[in-house]
Amino acid sequence: RPPLRLGIAGLGTVGIGVIKIIRRQAALLEDRAGRPIAITAVSARSRDKDRGVDLSDYAWEDDPVALAKRDDIDVFVELMGGHEGPAKDACKAAISAGKDIVTANKALLAHHGQELALAAEAAGVRLRYEASVAGGIPIIKALTEGLAGNEISRVMGVMNGTCNYILTQMQATGRGYNALFEECAELGYLEADPNLDVGGIDAGHKLAILSSIAFGTQVNFDAVELEGIQRIQLEDIEHAAEMGYRIKLLGVAQMTGRGLEQRMTPCLVPDSSPLGQLEGGTNMVVVEGDAIEQVVLRGPGAGEGPTASAVMGDVMDIARGLRIPTFGQPANTLRPVTGVKAMKP
Ligand code: HSE
Repeated sequence: RPPLRLGIAGLGTVGIGVIKIIRRQAALLEDRAGRPIAITAVSARSRDKDRGVDLSDYAWEDDPVALAKRDDIDVFVELMGGHEGPAKDACKAAISAGKDIVTANKALLAHHGQELALAAEAAGVRLRYEASVAGGIPIIKALTEGLAGNEISRVMGVMNGTCNYILTQMQATGRGYNALFEECAELGYLEADPNLDVGGIDAGHKLAILSSIAFGTQVNFDAVELEGIQRIQLEDIEHAAEMGYRIKLLGVAQMTGRGLEQRMTPCLVPDSSPLGQLEGGTNMVVVEGDAIEQVVLRGPGAGEGPTASAVMGDVMDIARGLRIPTFGQPANTLRPVTGVKAMKP
């Protein structure tokens, strides 16, 4: 069978991770998909940067929009990030050109998910975004596929590894927030705009995406009640510990009598609970449904291998011909979020 041909826009950590998996596991991927997975063309901001991998087999495009429209690609893999930059234009161009899309872009989905899903479904192309939430944890597939027979009552979890690292290190080492923030900057853990991490915005984007699938609502990031971790003091952590609790930046989405409630805020969780025990850059998502009661998924929330693993899961679904509506049901059947007003700090 003919290869599935990818055009990859964005050659940062995740893009390079995807290239490495496709090279390392070519035979395994072909066996599982029933066809080879090939990269045809790539695009990034700088052509000359040494990324530690040989890109000479791939055509180069400076412009991601031009990449998205190339005749020799089947799937546009968007790994640039951001909802205000070229990512949205390139995805729209891909949809117009009849290409399927795989993206890791949580901000794009949280801000423009409904619009893009409507456009993709009208054009008959797939929009897949497993890597946008909780890195290597396949939570999008869990909600849209494995748990599709459940009425979901609650989705919650820790979805930003950087915040979890800062909070767990404050407790474990007694170091203050500012020192740990600096350490995260040095370790390269922070988003380009660190306020996305510590302000809870990045995790809020992820919660808004999960809510849409779980509750059949249009993605509405503006309705997420947000509070970051910037104001957490060592004393807060110590007082919580004395009472047998830990502070976690916890996202909770649940349907209430007033409508869909979505909160991303620092919370006290029992020290001995799975969420309380979650260390470092790890993520955890808890799903509660009428048939399953509770499912807990835990794993690496970021990084080259885990995030590329999630991207490849989507690529494999497309290679196999799987078709699932973007948010688990047709985008034109998703209901607007009503009733609950977000409280912004
Ligand atoms: N900055 C994010 C985090 C990266 O720390 O979880 C993964 O989305």
